[in-house]
Amino acid sequence: MKTVVTGAAGFIGSHIVDALRNRGDEVIGIDSLDPGVHHSAPAYLRSDVDYCFIDLRNWVPDARFGDIEAIVHLAALGGVARASRERANIVEANVGGTARLVEAASRWPKLRKLVLVSSFSIYGSNYGYRCSICGNEQDASRSVEDLAVGRYEVLCRLCRAECCVLPITEATASNPLETYGASKYMHELCFRGFSHCPVNIVRLSSVYGDRLRLDDGEATIIAKLAGWIRSGVPPQLFEDGRQLRDWVYVGDVVDTILALLHNNVPHPVVNICSGVGTTLIDACTRLSEVIGVDCRPNLVGGFRPGDMRHCLGDPSVMRTLLGRDPIRFHHGAEHAFPQVDSGCLTRPV
Ligand SMILES: NC(=O)c1ccc[n+]([C@@H]2O[C@H](COP(=O)([O-])OP(=O)(O)OC[C@H]3O[C@@H](n4cnc5c(N)ncnc54)[C@H](O)[C@@H]3O)[C@@H](O)[C@H]2O)c1
Ligand SMILES: [Zn+2]
Repeated sequence: MKTVVTGAAGFIGSHIVDALRNRGDEVIGIDSLDPGVHHSAPAYLRSDVDYCFIDLRNWVPDARFGDIEAIVHLAALGGVARASRERANIVEANVGGTARLVEAASRWPKLRKLVLVSSFSIYGSNYGYRCSICGNEQDASRSVEDLAVGRYEVLCRLCRAECCVLPITEATASNPLETYGASKYMHELCFRGFSHCPVNIVRLSSVYGDRLRLDDGEATIIAKLAGWIRSGVPPQLFEDGRQLRDWVYVGDVVDTILALLHNNVPHPVVNICSGVGTTLIDACTRLSEVIGVDCRPNLVGGFRPGDMRHCLGDPSVMRTLLGRDPIRFHHGAEHAFPQVDSGCLTRPV
C-alpha cells in the first residue's frame, strides 16, 4: 500500500515509517523538520523512503502523490508551553497544514484510508471520578483550600471520601484547556464533511519509547523524568507524587495504527493508551532501575492550580484491535530507556 506519513521525521512518525517499510509498503514522508523540534535531520531517517521536507502549509502535491492509497497524519507542532508562546504559529501549522492535506486528499482517486493522530489533550479535564464509599460520580475539580492543606485526591462532594478516577472513553466530550489541545481538536474538525475515504481518529495519551527526546524544552513529563534521572538530577514532584498518569508504549501506537490502516473497523475514534495508571513515584523508581542510576525524586509538595490529579484512558477498543492488552509501563520502560554506561552518570548516594 502506498502511504503518505506526515510528521515522518518525528518521534512517532519515524516508527510508523519503519513499520510500513518493514511490511514492504511504499512510503512518502512529509516533514518540515521544524527547527523547534530538530537541530538537524535525524540520523534515523531512511534511505528507502521518499521524504518531502516541506511545511504542509506550503506544500503543493506533485505527481508522486497521484496514486496514494493511505495517509497517516501526524504532523503537528507540540508542547503546551510552546503553544502558549506561539499561538498563531501552532494553530496555523496544525490546522492550516491539516486543511491543505484534506484538500489534496479529497482529489486522490486511490485513497482508501486515512488515520488522523490526535491527543488526549482534547478531553481537557473532563475526567469523571467515583466515590469509593457512596458511589457518587462527579467531575475532577478540587478546591484550593483542600490542596493547600495537602488533600490532593478528588474528594466526594457528598461524603468527603476519596474518589477514584474513571478511565476516559472515546465518548467523553471534548473540552481542550489550552492552545495545543484546541489545535488538536481543530485538527479533528478539519475532517468534518470529508467523505472521500474512511477516516479513523486516534487519540493518544502520553507516548514513550526509543527516540523520545529527553532534553527537549517541550518534553512531556515522562521524558523529563527520564532525562533528569539519566543525568542524576532528582526529579522535583508536586503534590505527593501519587498522581496517576497513563503512558503508552510507542510500539502499541504503531500496532494500533497499522491495524486501523489495514482493516475496516466500525470505530471512528480510538483511544490509544495503556489503561494502567502509574504514579509519578513508581515511574521514577522504574526509570531508575532500567536506566541504572539511583536517583530518587524529591517530593516538594505544593500544587499548581489547574493540574489534573489523575489521567487514565480506557483502551477497550484498542484492545480489540490489538487482540491483546497494551504494554504496561513497567515492561515497556525496559525497551524505551537504555541503561547508562557503567555508573559514570551515577550520583553519589
Ligand atoms: N508524543 C506524545 O506523547 C503525543 C501524545 C498525544 C498526541 N501526539 C500527537 O502525535 C503526533 C506526533 O507526535 P510526536 O511526539 O512524534 O511529535 P514530534 O514533534 O516528534 O513529530 C512531529 C513532526 O511533525 C513535523 N511537523 C510539525 N508541523 C508540521 C507541518 N506543518 N508540516 C510538516 N511537518 C510538520 C515536525 O517537524 C516533527 O518532525 C502529533 O500530532 C502529536 O500531536 C503525541
Ligand atoms: Zn461519597
